[in-house]
Amino acid sequence: MKPFRIAVFASGSGSNFQAIADAVQTGKLDVEVGLLVCDKPEAPVVRRAEAAGVETFAFRPKQYASKQAYETEIVRLLQEKQIDLVVLAGYMRIVSGTLLEPYEGRIVNIHPSLLPSFPGLDAIGQALAHGVKVTGVTVHFVDGGMDTGPIIAQRPVEVAEDDTADTLAAKIHRIEHELYPFVIRGIASGNVSLAEDGRRVLWK
Ligand code: GRF
Repeated sequence: MKPFRIAVFASGSGSNFQAIADAVQTGKLDVEVGLLVCDKPEAPVVRRAEAAGVETFAFRPKQYASKQAYETEIVRLLQEKQIDLVVLAGYMRIVSGTLLEPYEGRIVNIHPSLLPSFPGLDAIGQALAHGVKVTGVTVHFVDGGMDTGPIIAQRPVEVAEDDTADTLAAKIHRIEHELYPFVIRGIASGNVSLAEDGRRVLWK
């Protein structure tokens, strides 16, 4: 049987990429990581992918005429590698229709807050500034909006009075590293579907 193939998209450190690659390596996640896509060739995640033996497409957006041009190249690669699911893990670019349309319902993202609270950049800083007592992690399907797609799974994280951006980020990362492999496993085994309302996500 053809393995379920994922492509991870990331722009920075890549600790979520690492958690996914480790889960695959240790047999806890039965998928193949077919590609890493990175818009910053110098990002640490590129070295992590090399070390894990994952093929990488690292590109500089400025070397392309437009977003459509580089996303067209990415779609070509995803199709060539028969990718089933696109996993955004700290990919700091808005995905446009060029990629969204061919992969509709097959792109997921992880966000460090309990959406719909604190979408967009610096969700952890936003949560601290707001003074919430609980924040968390959300994995959702990607649609055309900013962190607005159907929610697949969420986990809460308590905010302590002495939490700083760094200590809260560390707590959130720990949860992310468990939650993302768990959700990918659910999708790969066909246990996750979208309800008829196009909004609620159902788990088997
Ligand atoms: C994570 O906190 C994720 O929720 C957000 O970007 C961060 C990426 O971290 N979308 P890393 O590069 O996986 O360490």
